Amino acid sequence: MTATREPEDPELISKAIQSALLEVHTSLIAHVVSWDPLTQKADVRPVTRGTVPTADGDQVTEDLPVIPGVRIAFFRSGGFSFTFPISVGDPVRLIFSESYSGTYRATGADASDPGLVERFGLSSAVALPCEERDANPLSPDRLDPADAVIAPSLRVGGLSALPVAMAALVQSAITTAITGHTHTGVTTGAGVSGTGALAVPVGSVASSNLKAEP
Ligand SMILES: [Fe+2]
Repeated sequence: MTATREPEDPELISKAIQSALLEVHTSLIAHVVSWDPLTQKADVRPVTRGTVPTADGDQVTEDLPVIPGVRIAFFRSGGFSFTFPISVGDPVRLIFSESYSGTYRATGADASDPGLVERFGLSSAVALPCEERDANPLSPDRLDPADAVIAPSLRVGGLSALPVAMAALVQSAITTAITGHTHTGVTTGAGVSGTGALAVPVGSVASSNLKAEP
């Protein structure tokens, strides 16, 4: 008589749970493969191989696919946004949604059905541009105990933003202009001299890494 294993066998249940968990994705690091600044979406390649079960109950690793159209999760709310450049090869932190979020993204509707039965799947990821290798920390001058540091440059506003004038440079430029200006048509005695040539060179007072709209 052949013994049969009952379905409630703890070992079987454990293996089934372990196998199911292999399909559950929560968070991974990935590299940006391509990036579309118009849609703010990127194709990304997970850097860690996935683990898949074999027919004999074992496990092997395999490359996870490039995930297309992953939204870069820039901070934005209330009409404000905070963005920075994304480059091919940048590492990003992927967060996988517990339910499919494509329907919401397409419709913006409250209380919508997911539209796709998927739990913690690869297709509902967002990418946080916050990852880096241990060997590539920020240089110490990017951190300050008293100030928020945004480097290497910052633009406040749209494409029409202009370089901001720096107080010390403005003072220096005005001083130089006043002390160095000349007159044409200089006359002596009660005569009237010509107009003085006094000009502050705008470019010399402009910040090279801070621009703002008027
Ligand atoms: Fe003068």
